Amino acid sequence: MTSRKLEGKVAILTGGARGIGVHYSRALAQEGARVAIFDLADGENLAADINSVEGRDAARFFRVDVSDESAVRAGIASVAAWAGDVGILVNNAAVFATLGDVRVTELDVDLWDKVMAVNVRGPFLMVKHVAPMMIGKGAGKIVNISSGSAYKGLAFMSHYVTSKGAMLGFTRALARELGAHNLNINSLAPGLIMSDSISANQEHLDTNRDRVVASRALKRDGYPEDLLGGLIFLCSSDSDFMTGQTLLVDGGSVNI
Ligand SMILES: NC(=O)c1ccc[n+]([C@@H]2O[C@H](COP(=O)([O-])OP(=O)(O)OC[C@H]3O[C@@H](n4cnc5c(N)ncnc54)[C@H](O)[C@@H]3O)[C@@H](O)[C@H]2O)c1
Repeated sequence: MTSRKLEGKVAILTGGARGIGVHYSRALAQEGARVAIFDLADGENLAADINSVEGRDAARFFRVDVSDESAVRAGIASVAAWAGDVGILVNNAAVFATLGDVRVTELDVDLWDKVMAVNVRGPFLMVKHVAPMMIGKGAGKIVNISSGSAYKGLAFMSHYVTSKGAMLGFTRALARELGAHNLNINSLAPGLIMSDSISANQEHLDTNRDRVVASRALKRDGYPEDLLGGLIFLCSSDSDFMTGQTLLVDGGSVNI
């Protein structure tokens, strides 16, 4: 049997109950980690299914709004009580697939603030309260999920694209600040991925799907499975000398 790359590790994955996050949850458990799924959407059945597939106490669901500091603090304390110190944090939760196209001149301020609260404040709060455990152990892996749209831009999604651009700066700032404690902070930037969630947003697909596939060197749709190798790489010791970087997994659309 080949050794599993995350054996004995404790991971928190935000937004792990829906869309791409379901695939991340399963992949982290499959590599041996114990996975705490933080989401507002229900992840009880997913955690139960992972536990039955793995035949161990591999996953737990915690209903946590990542934009709420007291909820984040309480959720992380519950994970520590369940599984011990957290060694892996994947900041995947975001307001994304539910967004409709909107012109910047018509964008409601409350919606802008909501996207920033979940997509930017959320990762900050998670790092604020998880990093002390990692610093205490002198090791940790943080993966911030960005997007190819932060490089290329995307019309009618200025709130979302801005929030994903923030993940690139956040990743670099954290890499500089926390590197002295031996923490690795990297970003994973997917291109358009046919998650269950975005597949239900016909307007987004109508605006973007054909154009995006045509822009790629690899002329096909991307799927959640395409991201798993990159995710596990960034969460495992295979990337121990890599920090402050962004792994673009987009079929060769950006930067080639
Ligand atoms: N699908 C794509 O094409 C694509 C491309 C690039 C980047 N991404 C990024 O990948 C991630 C997952 O995307 P997805 O396609 O699965 O879409 P999605 O919208 O289903 O994923 C977001 C997840 O975050 C959760 N969430 C939302 N608000 C939350 C909150 N306040 N607290 C906790 N959880 C919350 C949702 O319930 C969901 O599980 C997002 O960060 C997205 O920006 C997706």
